[in-house]
Amino acid sequence: MVDATHVPRVMTSSSKVTDAFEANTRPSTVTPVCTWMDVNARMFPMKVEVVPSVAELPTCQKTLQACAPPRRLTTLSYPPQATVDGWWSPMSRSGPIRGSEWALTGSPRERVLDRHDGIAVTGGLGFVGRHLVRALLEQGKRVVVLDRRPPRDSDPDTGTQYRLVDVREHRSARDALTGVDLLFHLAANANGTYSVEHPREDFQTNCVGTFNVLQAALEAGVRRVVYVSSASVYGQPQRFPVNESHPTVPIVPYGASKLAGERFGLAFRHSYGLDFVAARPFCVYGPGEDPATSLVEVSRYLRWHLNGRPIQIVGDSERKTRDFVHVSDAVAGLLAIAERAQPGEIFNVGSGTEVSMRELAERIQRVAGGTARVHELADIQDDTYRLVADISGLRRLGYVPGVPLDEGIADLMEELGERPELPMGATIFRPGQKAEE
Ligand SMILES: NC(=O)c1ccc[n+]([C@@H]2O[C@H](COP(=O)([O-])OP(=O)(O)OC[C@H]3O[C@@H](n4cnc5c(N)ncnc54)[C@H](O)[C@@H]3O)[C@@H](O)[C@H]2O)c1
Repeated sequence: MVDATHVPRVMTSSSKVTDAFEANTRPSTVTPVCTWMDVNARMFPMKVEVVPSVAELPTCQKTLQACAPPRRLTTLSYPPQATVDGWWSPMSRSGPIRGSEWALTGSPRERVLDRHDGIAVTGGLGFVGRHLVRALLEQGKRVVVLDRRPPRDSDPDTGTQYRLVDVREHRSARDALTGVDLLFHLAANANGTYSVEHPREDFQTNCVGTFNVLQAALEAGVRRVVYVSSASVYGQPQRFPVNESHPTVPIVPYGASKLAGERFGLAFRHSYGLDFVAARPFCVYGPGEDPATSLVEVSRYLRWHLNGRPIQIVGDSERKTRDFVHVSDAVAGLLAIAERAQPGEIFNVGSGTEVSMRELAERIQRVAGGTARVHELADIQDDTYRLVADISGLRRLGYVPGVPLDEGIADLMEELGERPELPMGATIFRPGQKAEE
């Protein structure tokens, strides 16, 4: 075990890695043997695997040439036993590569989180945010929650600081981020229908709000921003499973505003060196969803069914498919991205499993019992499309979805009880459409 307080310095390294960077080829799995010494001149041989993504490579090269300021280029290194908490700089043939730092991320989960004392979550009082905050608290982290509403009695109070912040106001976001160095940005309008009915508000919260948060993060010296985008950036996908390089053609203002957030984040990375990474969650479901705002089918269908009402399916029940991901898996995905994504990378967060609306209704019947009645609203076809995530990118960061849909439904049933509140709101894509009642 290496003393984590020592700053490691690379003494020699295989030229394979730097060669690969220089040649602009992907060193799919290069295994250079490095020898480095710590500040006490102790030498350690070390085997390191480096797996940069194809998308990241040209940017890495560019950053290498730019030389300053120092920034992380590659955090995907797996020394077999070492648990070094520090950075090392690879050597090129002409000497150390200035402006580059490669992290040793030996033991997966805690590495980045360990290095960051101040962790903040915007939207930490929302559905996904609360689960994320709890997961961080379980890891012994202290978390600052930025939200526009105050906490309720049921929100965790130990290890959490609440700051009342409206992300539409730049100053309040900036003041709240003082001392923060890892930021998860979730605060948003997360409802597509709301964005159709109130596009300006959606724009203000999701576009202006995200812009403000990014600028505030820069000003406050935040070291990494994890932006929670959405699969809605893909619009109506054409290729399956949908991978991250699929064209982004959103069909509702919400998708456009989430995409704008990604673009600003990437531009801030390019222009100001902000360490920005992003997640595109698919359809997140699980305990704690607000029936007044959530449009994800799992809890809506279950709520209708448990109340003995017909399940209202918007669109074609066979052709409309979705990728439902349990909120605990979604949170695991966000943490994996925070830990191991390279700056500028964006990852789908889904289950990788495609389920049609008909199949979902049948599963709900199987798990919850009774006879599911289905009412198809076939007039609305805007979201009759397939949606299933290619999660191979996230899997490479160590993510493994752990909650099968049936288990997630059973889990949710337990939370909802016998006669849960009915879902509200409708799934519309144009003003005036008539959908669920
Ligand atoms: N739930 C999903 O299925 C899903 C899927 C893809 C992406 N996402 C994204 O995940 C994030 C969280 O979604 P969610 O389902 O938890 O939504 P949510 O509506 O439950 O939570 C959003 C939170 O943001 C806060 N907020 C809204 N406007 C704010 C403002 N102006 N200033 C400060 N705080 C504000 C709300 O008070 C709330 O606590 C969102 O960015 C959403 O776009 C969610």
